[in-house]
Amino acid sequence: MLFKTILPLLAVAGTVLAQTVDTLNAAGVASKPKSSAKVSSSILATSTSAAPSSTSAACSSAPSSTAPALTFLYTAFVNCAAPFDIGVVSEGDRVVIPIVGGNFTGPALSGTILDLGADWGYFDTKTGIFHPDTRYNFRTTDGANIWIRSTGSSTPNGSLQLRFLFETGAAAYYWLNNVVAIGTLRQVAAGADGSSVLRIDAWIMAGGNGPAA
Ligand SMILES: *[C@@H]1O[C@H](CO)[C@@H](O)[C@H](O)[C@H]1NC(C)=O
Ligand SMILES: *[C@@H]1O[C@H](CO)[C@@H](O)[C@H](O)[C@H]1NC(C)=O
Repeated sequence: MLFKTILPLLAVAGTVLAQTVDTLNAAGVASKPKSSAKVSSSILATSTSAAPSSTSAACSSAPSSTAPALTFLYTAFVNCAAPFDIGVVSEGDRVVIPIVGGNFTGPALSGTILDLGADWGYFDTKTGIFHPDTRYNFRTTDGANIWIRSTGSSTPNGSLQLRFLFETGAAAYYWLNNVVAIGTLRQVAAGADGSSVLRIDAWIMAGGNGPAA
């Protein structure tokens, strides 16, 4: 849902900027947009300066299919209370899965999951695929509060693939605001009352803004 919303917005913003630059260039008054254009070309220059020899070599022969490496972030056990149904809405069949506790353990952060959050995901009525949409909270062993949002999709065997966004103002964990993180989820226990325990394994893309070594 997040990406569905944000990508078109970015596309629109890009179009508007380009049109603004064109319009102002035509009018000969493009001093401010020109500086935006300079910023864009300096970003491009930065990214191509890492290329081996020339721009044409970078375009024609740079490896294009090297998978990015991942760095393990944590394993979380998430305690959920019995789900309930909102019903079929515009996006699909919306459900609520209360998140009521748990823990997470990893090399750079460990702690407990607060009884304060839920998955407000939905089943796509065309495919039956479940799309989680969570907000919940970690508290680290040293007392930092971390807010998590995740979205993703169920897979044919019932496990889920997730993407995460983290927010925290805590200095020791501020890097979490800037990581690109993915994970897998599967159910590891189910109670007769509809409660469940989910296991989530999370990784971040290596080479980005990970924890200080
Ligand atoms: C985390 O929760 C799981 C599932 O309840 C439990 O088996 C495990 O011992 C807990 N780990 C820690 C470090 O508390
Ligand atoms: C389920 O499918 C996912 C995605 O293909 C895979 O990563 C995972 O290992 C599978 N899990 C089980 C329990 O088969």
